[in-house]
Amino acid sequence: MSELQTSPGFTHEKVETNNFLMIVLILLVVAVGGLVEIVPLFFQTSTTQPVPGVVPLTPLQLAGRDIYVREGCYNCHSQMIRPFRAETLRYGHYSVAGEFVYDHPFQWGSKRTGPDLHRVGGKYSDDWHRIHLNNPRDVVPESNMPAYPWLEKAQVDDTEIASHMRALRRVGVPYTDAQIAAAPAQVKGRTDMDALVAYLQSLGLALK
Ligand code: HEC
Repeated sequence: MSELQTSPGFTHEKVETNNFLMIVLILLVVAVGGLVEIVPLFFQTSTTQPVPGVVPLTPLQLAGRDIYVREGCYNCHSQMIRPFRAETLRYGHYSVAGEFVYDHPFQWGSKRTGPDLHRVGGKYSDDWHRIHLNNPRDVVPESNMPAYPWLEKAQVDDTEIASHMRALRRVGVPYTDAQIAAAPAQVKGRTDMDALVAYLQSLGLALK
């Protein structure tokens, strides 16, 4: 005890009574700790490679994803199933990083006024989604989700889809030139509703 207190040189007291030194050392510890946690994630296969079955969205699904973002669906719906029993019982397999490698920007969300949608693909028929999006109360009487009746009336903008796919290719989504060239014809004449339903039906199919 007395030996510690009287020992010369670098002591805890010096650190604890010198604001500047304390700040520098805290920043150093936090930076090293953070880097050790974060940097490996950029190189691990589990976070950088798609899990089997995860493929880039088709042009129509991609257009639907834009509508999902435009309409602010993420304000009420997450796309991130946590690894807890209550979640996996309700929604299916918990979400894993390899399912989001083509998702730019990801739609994980943090608000759940409505249910998580990460594995909603295949849960309902296309018709159910159309009725539900047009007026949720037609299928779920107690629903407080807003109605989106304009989706049936608006058409997907086929002039934007190719440049959107090229931009995604730059950040690593493996669209081919042929896929990009064929994209406008695939979304031409389709409604926003067609696209959004196609997107919803694509969600979370890789792991069930
Ligand atoms: C104000 C909050 C809110 C917004 C915004 C919202 N929803 Fe919902 N959503 C809900 C609620 C609450 C439910 C549960 C009741 C129901 O099924 O209608 C729900 C249910 C759903 C379901 C059924 C999920 C299931 O597993 O049963 C789907 C699909 C869905 N919403 C899609 C969408 C899409 C797509 C958008 C954007 C166009 C959207 N929601 C916007 C609140 C919202």
